[in-house]
Amino acid sequence: MEINLKNRIALVTGGSGAIGSFICAYLYRAGAKVIGSCHALDTPSAREMVKVCKEQGVHVEIEPFDVGDPDSAAAAVRNVEKNWGPVDILVNCAGITRDAPLRKMNHDQWKQVLQVNLDSVFNTTQPVIEGMLARGWGRIVNISSINGQKGQFGQTNYSAAKAGMHGFTMALAQEVARKGVTVNTVSPGYIDSPMIRAVPENIRNKILEGIPAGRFGEPRDIAAAVTFLCSEQAAFVNGANLAVNGAQFTSA
Ligand code: CAA
Repeated sequence: MEINLKNRIALVTGGSGAIGSFICAYLYRAGAKVIGSCHALDTPSAREMVKVCKEQGVHVEIEPFDVGDPDSAAAAVRNVEKNWGPVDILVNCAGITRDAPLRKMNHDQWKQVLQVNLDSVFNTTQPVIEGMLARGWGRIVNISSINGQKGQFGQTNYSAAKAGMHGFTMALAQEVARKGVTVNTVSPGYIDSPMIRAVPENIRNKILEGIPAGRFGEPRDIAAAVTFLCSEQAAFVNGANLAVNGAQFTSA
């Protein structure tokens, strides 16, 4: 099955992250014009993204903005549309963790995670949705998490935000399905990335034991799922939550 995203313009938030940069590369290889967002240009991850793209022959534009701030997100979308054209594909991939058991979690840890992981989805989707509906075509993919599906010790903030993302997906899919727009969630399991490497080694090893596939996922596992959901072929997949987790968590 060949996926052709030629002439499509894709905005990927968190485009400089481990998973986001692979999503950018996959969408680019499928033919899309890709704009990856990052929080600021002069950061190690943004520099790494530029380096990786160059090495892989992938051309991604970079748009720095704060996904947690509605004005910043709206201005960024306007800028993208002015420079490259209307956004056809939006992948909401920006995310952070601030892990702590609830009894030790402070309000800042709660607020930051909800703002960056969940408010961001509203902030970036609202400015693009009207255009997608008017043009009769759009793809929105929200990158949630296995921990939004099953919960995780130490992640009341993250699990709440990630579960909320899929609630958003299901509701918006119903609002836009008649107009050629799809809204889906991808829920990655534990993917080999700096976020997972930050988990204490003993806990990480225990998590690995619980993955029937016997390995952590790779960023390309997620990028392939996202690219499929952005394709013409996935036009009837709408409001779904696609788990990509090596059978670590299964549901009917
Ligand atoms: N289930 C039950 N009990 C657990 C537990 C678990 N999963 N994990 C820890 N505990 C217990 C410990 O055994 C310990 O018990 P005792 O006090 O009886 O010895 C107690 O809870 C530790 O509690 P503390 O309050 O001392 O916790 P802490 O402050 O030391 O650390 C933590 C808590 C930071 C959350 C740490 O457990 C941790 O990092 N956990 C991993 C969280 C995780 O998986 N994060 C995912 C990051 S990757 C990601 O988010 C990407 C994605 O989408 C998958």
